[in-house]
Amino acid sequence: MPKGLFVTLEGGEGAGKSTLARALQAELIRRGREVVLTREPGGTLGAEEIRALLVKGDTERWSAMTEALLFYAARVDHVEKVIQPAIARGAIVISDRFADSTMAYQGAAGGIELDRLKALHRLALNDFQPALTLLVDIPPETGLNRTRDRLGLEVRFESKALAFHERLRACFHRLAAEEPDRFVTLNGQNDPGDVADAALQALLERLKDD
Ligand code: TMP
Repeated sequence: MPKGLFVTLEGGEGAGKSTLARALQAELIRRGREVVLTREPGGTLGAEEIRALLVKGDTERWSAMTEALLFYAARVDHVEKVIQPAIARGAIVISDRFADSTMAYQGAAGGIELDRLKALHRLALNDFQPALTLLVDIPPETGLNRTRDRLGLEVRFESKALAFHERLRACFHRLAAEEPDRFVTLNGQNDPGDVADAALQALLERLKDD
């Protein structure tokens, strides 16, 4: 049985994570691997219900700590019901966002100390972490311009001020510097095909390591 692998995609709004996730999925399936493409918040029925509470409505609807607790409630359901079983049967799980998003959005940008969020992570999930995190980095103005073209109601976070998005980008950089073995940073302004090639390279290396 092939070894399972848990990969997460992180970055600000409009970085191109969803396009990258689909490109990776197609290439890995072509290579004969089972791929589970999923996202946070969401990935299970219950977590999708929690997602609706989080991404819709007024920008100031929740405090950063209430958000963090809702994200972790959704995350535990997702890990227990989808991610861990898939890894155990040898699949490659690609999640569009995971715990680093809570560190960046609710922590650095939302004002909660990272140590408190790391404690919440340990309480909820022990030391469960992705084997590889692909950070798709893009200047917030460029990313937000891209998302402006999207229709829909899921704009609670996109609507926050530019300074919020600058803080979360800086936090992603810091997290990547703290854990250089887990993170690979990709330039989201490059051609999507080139971003996908670099991501695939990093992922295949991780499979070799295992
Ligand atoms: P998405 O637009 O990538 O689907 O993510 C939904 C929004 O939720 C996005 O604006 C980022 C935000 N978010 C957090 O604030 N904290 C988290 O832990 C996660 C997973 C997402």
